[in-house]
Amino acid sequence: MNILILGSGGREYSIGLSIYKENEHQLFFMPGNGATDTLGTNINIKDYHDLASWAKEKAIDLTIVGPEAPLVDGVVDIFKANNLVIFGPSAAAARLEGSKVYMKNMLKKFNVPTAAFIETNSISEANDFIDSMQIPIVVKADGLCAGKGVIIAQSKDEAKEAVSDMLNGVSFGDAGTNVVVEEFLDGYELSVFAICDGENYKVLPAAQDHKRVGNGDTGPNTGGMGAYAPTPLVDETIYQKIEDRVIKPTLKGMKEEGAPFEGVLFIGVMVVRGEPIILEYNVRFGDPECEILMPLLETPVSELFYKGATKDLKNLDIKIKKEFGVGVVMASGNYPYSSSEPAEIIVDTIVDVELLNNSHISYAGVSKDNGKLLATGGRVLVCVGFGESIKIARDRAYALCGQVHFAGKKIRTDIAYQALK
Ligand code: AMP
Ligand code: GLY
Repeated sequence: MNILILGSGGREYSIGLSIYKENEHQLFFMPGNGATDTLGTNINIKDYHDLASWAKEKAIDLTIVGPEAPLVDGVVDIFKANNLVIFGPSAAAARLEGSKVYMKNMLKKFNVPTAAFIETNSISEANDFIDSMQIPIVVKADGLCAGKGVIIAQSKDEAKEAVSDMLNGVSFGDAGTNVVVEEFLDGYELSVFAICDGENYKVLPAAQDHKRVGNGDTGPNTGGMGAYAPTPLVDETIYQKIEDRVIKPTLKGMKEEGAPFEGVLFIGVMVVRGEPIILEYNVRFGDPECEILMPLLETPVSELFYKGATKDLKNLDIKIKKEFGVGVVMASGNYPYSSSEPAEIIVDTIVDVELLNNSHISYAGVSKDNGKLLATGGRVLVCVGFGESIKIARDRAYALCGQVHFAGKKIRTDIAYQALK
């Protein structure tokens, strides 16, 4: 097939790498990064109508959308109107991520367990609710804020200030014209992904992300500093509860709303005393979760997404490898505070055959300059290791980290600690 992947991060690189290894497809990336050009061709056509025309000319058989922004902007609707096969939700269904207010209202409507909340654009209504709550209190801006729109306030005054900053447009502009105020959930977090075709779904092994920049989950939030899967913190009972209480009612409900959900349903779960409570939905793969999940698939990634895009998942018996994956993000020196000077990336030749065969790099914030690979983004790359246990996979991921060099490189050294403690 001719396959187009939208996006430029490690997530898109990892989808591309898995498809590249199938050895039967031609890959295109829009816009891609400084390493995706080793897997296929980077193109630069930003307008979605122009891109759809290009895809028709090039006889693109399948388009896969990585990030949320093009989904919320309706790229799937535009491609479908051009009779192109594309894997991802419509703009209407992508509102599950694009608007936290919409998402919370749908969770309530479909009876999916979630934190008690109000959504409002009134400061006094928010303040009354805050007065009735226990601390900590969670305040969220309605719109897309690149993962930064959530404040966990340790006092009622702090919560009220966050609400007023959001509603007055100080914090997030238009994304903060409505807020969600909700109860704090105390438990452990999971990332669960369901590949959906509107009616049917396939659940991937549950992963854990590491959102804070520092070891032991300290410091500011990031896009994610590492991930591993499958996590032993999830047993069959929890998977079953997530399917019965979350995925099935959501797919049924979205269909009834007239916005059937096709694409990746990313379920942010907090397990509280054994019960999965839903923090949020995203409508795409997590990054870096995707980088460890793609290689764990035995089913060809292209087949999974093609069947997802053509309402054919019912006929797929998804196969997952019986191993573990651990991904360690290597970020640039000033991440997540500010950008860093471009730095050349050097990867040592790997002589250890075990390591060579059970690890790889997924490139993210990189560009190419005169044949040199440069670290130019915040999250630069992900070192991914595999093995028959989490410990072995983790050790391989860190061994690979030791072979990668650039000025200022920064990692967390405790990825997968929750599974290993
Ligand atoms: P979100 O952007 O909704 O994923 O929130 C970012 C992070 O804030 C989540 O990954 C959680 O770690 C945390 N968070 C969000 N909502 C809650 C909540 N109700 N209780 C506890 N932690 C939360
Ligand atoms: N790793 C979390 C996210 O992609 O939102």
